[in-house]
Amino acid sequence: MKERSPSPSYKLSWMPTSRRLEALGNGVFARTDQAKQVYQGESGVPPLIDLSLGSTDLQPPEEILQVIASAVADPSSSAYCLDAGTAPFNQAVSAWCQHRLGVEVDPQRQVQLLVGSQEGTAHLPLASLDPGDRALLLDPSYPSHRGGLVLAGASICSLPLSQEREWLPNLNAIGPESWDQLKLFVLGYPHNPTARVGDQELLDQVMARGCRHQLVIANDNPYVDLALEGEAPSLLRSPGWRDWGIEFFSLSKGWCLGGFRLAFAIGAEPLITALRQVKGVVDFNQSLALQQGAIEALTRWADWPLSLHAVYRERRDRVLSVLRSGGWSCSTPEMAMYLWLSLPADAEVQKLGDETFARRLLQRAGVALTPGSGFGAGGSGWLRMALVRPADELEEAARRVVAASP
Ligand SMILES: Cc1ncc(COP(=O)(O)O)c(C=O)c1O
Repeated sequence: MKERSPSPSYKLSWMPTSRRLEALGNGVFARTDQAKQVYQGESGVPPLIDLSLGSTDLQPPEEILQVIASAVADPSSSAYCLDAGTAPFNQAVSAWCQHRLGVEVDPQRQVQLLVGSQEGTAHLPLASLDPGDRALLLDPSYPSHRGGLVLAGASICSLPLSQEREWLPNLNAIGPESWDQLKLFVLGYPHNPTARVGDQELLDQVMARGCRHQLVIANDNPYVDLALEGEAPSLLRSPGWRDWGIEFFSLSKGWCLGGFRLAFAIGAEPLITALRQVKGVVDFNQSLALQQGAIEALTRWADWPLSLHAVYRERRDRVLSVLRSGGWSCSTPEMAMYLWLSLPADAEVQKLGDETFARRLLQRAGVALTPGSGFGAGGSGWLRMALVRPADELEEAARRVVAASP
């Protein structure tokens, strides 16, 4: 039998765990979570203000919760749903897509229910790549994008984003032969963590390359309804998606249903079929009760996410005002939910780096932010603040951050 070499950080003393975990690492959210627990275990510290997760304090419409609650009482909700959504769910997605994006979608062949867009984006590489296949990823990007590629054994190429290019990728940095070698490009606009909305032209150009060079284009789009400035792009408006594209949507952000784990993918039929096949092995999907709630959200409450704009805009503006008057230089994000903040210019802070500085803010100010490097090397030197508490509390957090900064 072949001997395994020890995997330094993930080895559980005697337990032989898989090598792919080494490349996966233990994500930024897990590390931040550990630090939060340590902070909360200390006595006499101010209460933690946790702005490190995109898990909102805002509540979904009561009617959606009521639909779920009464559907839970129906015995059919206890049954397995197998790998696909029910016909009424798929139809609701198709109707939403027509209403929201003006795009016609085949409810049975082009729609797939998901247990979160995180789950979908993490499983897509297993459905579309063989080990060693090349995949392109934005840097920084949402952790499940990279995680799914690592688990599928993909060879990962990064396309860096930078402040100079306003967090939009330079597609011309990749030559035609390199495009030919790629099998999958995972991106996500509106973009987390940079809060850049992106534009339709970018997705059109990406999708055109997908068709020309025959690679799958995946856009993770849980924030489609949360662009505060400009219009969120959608891959489904880009010609060619029915052949080579797939887009992921979620009820977590727009309808504040994160804990309920409801999302869906719309894409080229072979990709949807392949994703369904992977899910057939891994999970039996969400219960009928939750699907009922999703149907209610996507039909009667289709425009409700837009009502969140005023709330997030107020939060954003009040926090920015405190940070700016405290000497932080921050640009106004286009997308709701996050501020993307560069570390203060102070040389010592720059030397500390974003992860240590975030730890320091947690220890000294009791405010948890996410270090940008947790989203990839391209996020180094940045911090993400999620606007997921009421405005007064966010202002208090901003004041504490300012007081604890050089
Ligand atoms: C880009 C992106 N994709 C996916 C997710 C997770 O969404 P879901 O709750 O649908 O799994 C998030 C959550 O923050 C996200 O920012």
